[in-house]
Amino acid sequence: MIISKLPNVGTTIFTRMSQLAMETGALNLSQGFPDFDGPLALRDAVGRHIAAGHNQYTAMTGLPALREQVAAKIGRCYGRTVSAETEVTITPGATQAIFCAIQALIRPGDEVIVFDPSYDSYEPSVELAGGRCIHVPLALPGFSIDWQRFSDALSDKTRLVILNSPHNPSGALISRAELDQLAMLIRGRDIYVLSDEVYEHLVFDGVSHTSVLAHEELYSRAFVVSSFGKTYHVTGWKTGYVVAPPALSAELRKVHQYVSFCGVTPLQWALADFMSEQPQHTEELPGFYQAKRDLFCGLLKDSRFSFSPTPGTYFQLADYSAIRDDLDDVAMSEWLTREHGVATIPVSVFYQQAPKDLRLVRFCFAKREDTLRQAAEKLCAI
Ligand SMILES: Cc1ncc(COP(=O)(O)O)c(C=O)c1O
Repeated sequence: MIISKLPNVGTTIFTRMSQLAMETGALNLSQGFPDFDGPLALRDAVGRHIAAGHNQYTAMTGLPALREQVAAKIGRCYGRTVSAETEVTITPGATQAIFCAIQALIRPGDEVIVFDPSYDSYEPSVELAGGRCIHVPLALPGFSIDWQRFSDALSDKTRLVILNSPHNPSGALISRAELDQLAMLIRGRDIYVLSDEVYEHLVFDGVSHTSVLAHEELYSRAFVVSSFGKTYHVTGWKTGYVVAPPALSAELRKVHQYVSFCGVTPLQWALADFMSEQPQHTEELPGFYQAKRDLFCGLLKDSRFSFSPTPGTYFQLADYSAIRDDLDDVAMSEWLTREHGVATIPVSVFYQQAPKDLRLVRFCFAKREDTLRQAAEKLCAI
């Protein structure tokens, strides 16, 4: 019989809740994907490139034109000049970039600090590399880093710290002061940083995203990951990228080369065209999603959920303790789906050990206006 290398991994809550939504006909505000399409010009470009014969393997590191566009965007947004040749690698999704960075770096016995609640792909990737995650809970209610707990978690075995800002599921943003603090605490140690910035363009209320790419000291030891799927409303394209200094990129590419070799060629052509023709897309994105957040939060104002509007991502957390304090969040999510027709994600699943009294569910508001209105109507009736 096969002995599992990931004995604790089963079907994820995202798959389970989406399935339950389908079975019950509930509105699916659980899994993080839009119920609308990406820009028509971008989708049309894929067909054009397939017809033009761009259907064979592209460069292992990614289509040069797309790497150039990514480098140009990084210059515009974060003021850093990166080499498209030696620092930018296109991957089949951010998840694959995260996996490759971890495999490139982590050896058996190494420790990786993750902040809970955390995205679910980090820990299995670390375990497959023979490492161990040390979970440091973020401080509630704002989901900020508790520096005392972080310092206590550091050891001689710490090899990597995984950051995620804007943060899934809370929407919390990391600040420049927090990056400075992190840099100070790992200075002089053999510790690297994996910065998951897939929601980099979903930051609201006039605030700018604080990227590790804009932090000289941290970038020198960092892998910074992003996702075209999130930025261009095409999560099913599973195309992302990772930016890292040349020596780190070289090691990551050795892994990427044998995990997938390269991403999907016509998609990369289409993204390169669209980024060069419509660079303003990323500047328009905060306003686009802020309008959805404001609509959803405005409609939920008179409900019995309590919340403060999320500062980033397309997720809104809501406290339901005034409605069903007797239910834990997994039971609450099932109850909301089955009895009230709205599927959500329980926040406890993002924790190794969730606080006992956690009464939070996550709604995804990357949805059409009519979906948000229908969902809010159901939620306000509870
Ligand atoms: C925090 C975080 N990182 C990474 C990903 C994965 O991105 P991709 O679909 O490009 O692999 C997601 C997707 O939900 C995410 O929320």
